Amino acid sequence: MIIRIGFSWFFVREPAPEMPAVPPGVTLSSAGPDDPAWRVLTRPAGARDTAVVRVGGEPAHVSAAFENPGGIVLGGSFTRPVFRGRGLYPLALRWLCARLARDGVRRVYISTSVMNAASRRGILAAGFRVDRVVMSMRVGPWDLGRWLDAVVRSGKRALGH
Ligand SMILES: CC(C)(COP(=O)(O)OP(=O)(O)OC[C@H]1O[C@@H](n2cnc3c(N)ncnc32)[C@H](O)[C@@H]1OP(=O)(O)O)[C@@H](O)C(=O)NCCC(=O)NCCS
Repeated sequence: MIIRIGFSWFFVREPAPEMPAVPPGVTLSSAGPDDPAWRVLTRPAGARDTAVVRVGGEPAHVSAAFENPGGIVLGGSFTRPVFRGRGLYPLALRWLCARLARDGVRRVYISTSVMNAASRRGILAAGFRVDRVVMSMRVGPWDLGRWLDAVVRSGKRALGH
């Protein structure tokens, strides 16, 4: 029996429609299914919107927005190692947030493992704030983390928190 326990930061942000300033030589696009970027980046499946960042025409970063029952969640983020540390991740998140705000979306979520310091810094740089820490616990094929999270939250509600 395999037991895996993990903790993730859950962040939230109310998006504003202003597009972020884009540095010279950098471009952003919502790449379609036939975009050549998918030769070097993985196209996020089932995304509502996608941000591909190019540097000097070279595909460097991808992030996407997904519809979830609980709201809009950003994810699928990856910066090719040679382009890391240049702020492309927060740029893509801000760009997606601005497009979502223009579509009338009022709240956007994103999560990352508490072990992923680079992701946490990028998410905070994109204007998100910590909403909560979520525990994930898998025992064999069963995900008990969501169940535990729901129990804790309904317990808090019952206590008026
Ligand atoms: C997380 C990730 C998307 C960040 O992308 P990025 O475009 O480098 O983001 P940023 O430029 O904002 O950098 C984020 C932080 O990582 C640091 N960093 C990580 N790798 C770095 C590198 N190779 N060179 C320089 N800085 C690096 C930066 O210093 C920065 O911290 P700071 O703002 O305190 O200086 C990228 O590291 C990645 O693709 N990781 C693997 C996939 C992953 O973890 N995705 C996110 C899942 S939620």
